[in-house]
Parts: sequence; structure tokens; C-alpha cells
Amino acid sequence: MNLSQKIKNINFQNPILLASGTYGFGLKFKEIINLTGGIITKTITFTPITGNPPPRIYEFEGGIINSIGLENPGAIYFKNKILPNLKNLDTNLILSVGGTSIEEIVKVIKILDDEIISAYELNLSCPNVKEGGISLGQNPKVVEEICKETKKITKKPIIAKIPTVFCNPIEISKAAERGGADFITITNTIPGLVIDIERQKPFLGGISGGISGTFLKYYSLYLIAKIKKVVKIPIIGCGGIRDYKDVLEYLFCGAMLVEIGTLNLLNPFLVAKIIEDLKKWGKEKEIKSIKEIIKGINIEI
Ligand SMILES: Cc1cc2nc3c(=O)[nH]c(=O)nc-3n(C[C@H](O)[C@H](O)[C@H](O)COP(=O)(O)O)c2cc1C
Repeated sequence: MNLSQKIKNINFQNPILLASGTYGFGLKFKEIINLTGGIITKTITFTPITGNPPPRIYEFEGGIINSIGLENPGAIYFKNKILPNLKNLDTNLILSVGGTSIEEIVKVIKILDDEIISAYELNLSCPNVKEGGISLGQNPKVVEEICKETKKITKKPIIAKIPTVFCNPIEISKAAERGGADFITITNTIPGLVIDIERQKPFLGGISGGISGTFLKYYSLYLIAKIKKVVKIPIIGCGGIRDYKDVLEYLFCGAMLVEIGTLNLLNPFLVAKIIEDLKKWGKEKEIKSIKEIIKGINIEI
């Protein structure tokens, strides 16, 4: 099965992307990265962030809860010291950008913009300083505005990675499309809390964290089936992918691409097996091109 697709002028050799925060900045395991459709870096903000105190990860049967925080060296350091080392990547380099205001995100993209970048993914789960505890992406007006402002300053495609809880993800997706986003990613982690009963306090150093892994897949698939009906822009599915069957579930649901996250932390080589297994499956089913699958199936939801 031919896994390649050209979407919004980007050539993807296959539909598998490495999710933000789970493959660093792309400096290690380059031979594996080059097998995928692209890598999405850890989120880059303007100000360097040291991240949360330990413990930062809690494991449970259905996935993990992380409270890494948005640890990153800041946009200027990334541009000068890290980006030059990514010039020889043989696949799409997608930069995840974040910030606590529309202005910060715009500033970050202005600093980073470079011809070797294929697209930007906006991490819209960052806290909005103007609105206290809520994240930028929880307000449809803010989402529309961020997409509009970022589209003005770069020719690269914009991917809106939306929060999907404590907001109406359907309205948020429509707002991203109105603002001119080229893709939507569904979903980021969702908030979680673990209590350490011996110490009688929250387990994670950052107190709360983001839940990812298997359990998220079912929520994400449900959302994609719903959102597919109300937006025309391509959807990137994310959450809980462990093998090629999970990828197929996303594609049948209507996602054109997928992101794999938590699995990389368990074993950074498994994405290569998933790509091989997908090809094998297609051959067995005599499907010539992935385009036959991404048409999706009709789901009355
Ligand atoms: C340790 C860790 C760090 C993450 N860091 C980021 C990040 O910096 N920016 C972002 O948009 N998403 C981040 N994510 C979310 C993932 O990109 C992905 O959306 C989420 O984990 C769901 O996919 P999964 O179930 O395959 O892990 C992080 C996830 C994990 C587990």
C-alpha cells in the first residue's frame, strides 16, 4: 500500500507523525524520525521554561499522566543552537509553538520562521494570562484570532492543536477553521490529578498533569467522528495509538494523519514497526493507496 499523501502542499511519506513532547527536538534517533511522515518538536515558547519539579510522570493501566510543564530553552536559543542541527532531516519538521498570549505566539513564529520548517503546530493548551487559569484554546474567539494572526506572518501551514475539555471542541474546531488554520489536531492530553495517600498530597510535582495513552483514544475517535461533520480542513488524530490497528481506526474515522506520543516514551523504535505493519496490512487487503482509506466511513454520530 502506498502510504504517501500530499496535503496542503506538504508531502507526507506516510500518515505517522511523532507527537509534540515525546521525541524531543528531533536531535536523537534521526534514522527513525526519517521513516515517519514528520516530527513535531516539543513546544517552543518565547521565554525559556525550566518545567515542573519531580515526580513528572505517573503510570497507570490506561496510560500516563505527565507534568513536565512546557520545559524548553526558548525560541532564540532554539533558532540559533538547535534548528541548524535539524537541516539534514529527511522528513517534515513541524515546530510546536506556544505562549501565554496571541502576541507571544506570533513573536515565536517570527523568530523561528525558516525554509526548513514544513508547518507550525499551535499548542493551544497553554494558559491564557489575560483569562487566568483557562487555556488560550478554550475560547473560540481567541482561537480564531490566533489562527488569523499567525497566518498573516508565515506562509507555512498552521495546525491548530486544540484543547478538548472544559470547552466545546466543536465550536473551537470551527473557530480554528474560520481563522484560516490548515489542519486541526485532536486531541492534546486532558487534565488529571493523582493523590499520594502515604504523603497525603498530590503525587506529581506540578500538582496536576495531562493524561495521555490508550484511554484517550476512545474520546479522540469520538470527537473526530463528530468534528469531521462540521469542518472541511484535514484532521490529525492523536491519542493512545499503540499499533497499526489504532492508526487504521483513526483513518477510518476520518483523520488524514495521526500523531503518536506516549508509545515513543515506552519504546522509540515502535513507530517503525507500525509503519511496516500498515504496509503489510494494505498488501494483504489489496489496497493500493492510503487515499482509499482516508475517505473515512460514514459514522452517524
Ligand atoms: C511527556 C509528554 C510531553 C508532552 N509535551 C507536549 C508539548 O510540549 N506540547 C504539546 O502540544 N503536547 C505535548 N504532549 C501531548 C502529546 O503531544 C499528545 O498530544 C498526547 O500525549 C496524546 O497522544 P498519546 O496518547 O499518543 O500520547 C506531551 C505528552 C507527553 C506524554
